[in-house]
Amino acid sequence: MQRIFSGIQPSGVPTLGNYLGAIRNWVALQADHECIWCVVDLHAITVWQDPAELARNTREMAATLIACGVDPSKHVLFAQSMVSAHARLAWIFNCVARLGWLNRMTQFKDKAGKDREAASAGLYVYPNLMAADIHAYHATRVPVGDDQKQHLELANDIAEKFNHDYGVEFFPHIEPLILGPAARVMSLRDGSKKMSKSDPSDQSRINLTDDADAIALKIRRAKTDPDPLPGDVSGFEGRPEARNLVGIYAALSGGTAQGVLDEFAGSQFGPFKQKLTDLVVSSITPIGAETSRLLGDVTVLDAALRDGAIRASAIAEPIVSEAERLVGFLKV
Ligand code: TYM
Repeated sequence: MQRIFSGIQPSGVPTLGNYLGAIRNWVALQADHECIWCVVDLHAITVWQDPAELARNTREMAATLIACGVDPSKHVLFAQSMVSAHARLAWIFNCVARLGWLNRMTQFKDKAGKDREAASAGLYVYPNLMAADIHAYHATRVPVGDDQKQHLELANDIAEKFNHDYGVEFFPHIEPLILGPAARVMSLRDGSKKMSKSDPSDQSRINLTDDADAIALKIRRAKTDPDPLPGDVSGFEGRPEARNLVGIYAALSGGTAQGVLDEFAGSQFGPFKQKLTDLVVSSITPIGAETSRLLGDVTVLDAALRDGAIRASAIAEPIVSEAERLVGFLKV
C-alpha cells in the first residue's frame, strides 16, 4: 500500500477551496492508502501568528479535518511541532536546496509581496520544510490543490540532489495528486485570485464554519458577468468567475464542468446561484456542526493528536536518523 502525506496550515478557518482542493480528496484516499495528515503549525509561523490564536486554530483545524471524515484511528493525524523529525530534516534540506531554486517559488513572491526584505527567513525556506514533511515518512503520494504543485516539484529536486550528493537511493520520487474539477477554487470577489483563508475579505471565501445565511449572502454577492452560462467549457474563456462557480458546483455534485453546463446552458446567474447555494449549504453546514461538537470535548481531540504524534514519530524517527547518519552526523 502506498503511503500518503499531506498538510494544512492552521492559519485560519479552512475554506471551501481547502475542502474541494484537498480535504475531500484526502478522505476518499483513506480507503486504499496508509495516510499521514498533518496540521502544519511550523509552516504557519512563517508569517506572524498570535500565540493563543495559533493554538486554538490548530485544535480547530484538527477538529474540522475529523468532521470532514479524516479518520485519526485508522490513519495518522497530528500537529507538525509535536514531531521534531520535521525540523531536523528541514535543516538538512536547507543545506541541500539551492538559493536559485527557492528564488523561483511563486508562492514566496506572492506572500512576501513588495517588501521582500521584511519577509521572515522561514517564509523563504518554507518549501524545504514541506519537502522534509513528506520525505520524513518516505511518502510517495501527496494530494494537494493546484497551488502546491511547484513546491512538490522542488521536493523531488531536493530528494534527487540528496540521493546524488550522498550516493544513495534513499528518498523516493513523490507523485502529486491534484484531483477533481476544483483543484483551484478562486476568490468569490476576483476570479483571478485563489480563494484563501488568509484573504483580508471574508466575502471572498466560504468558510467551512459558515452558516446557511452567510453562505447564501456570499454566493449572492459573488462576482459574475452579465452573460448567461455558456453551453460548452470553451465559453469560459475570459470568464474566470463563471468557470469558478461552475467548477464548485461540479465538484460538490460529483460531476464535471461540462455536465453542469449541459444542465444550465443559457441560464442566467440568478437561478444557478440559487441551486449552487442549496448544494453548498447541504454539503458544508454539517461539517461546521460536527466541528463544534468535537470542540466541545477537547480532551478527546487532544488525546487523538497525542496518539497521532507518537505514531508519526515511530515512522519518521528511523528515516530521519538514517538521513542524519548518511550526512555524517555522529550517532553514538
Ligand atoms: P494550505 O494550508 O494553504 O492549504 C491546504 C490544502 O488546500 C489546498 N488549497 C486549495 N485547493 C483548491 N483551491 C484553493 N483555493 C485552495 N487553497 C488551498 C492546498 O493546495 C493544500 O493542498 N504548504 C501547504 C501545506 C503543507 C503541505 C506539506 C502540503 C505543508 N507541508 C506537505 C502537502 C505536503 C499549504 O500551505 O497548504
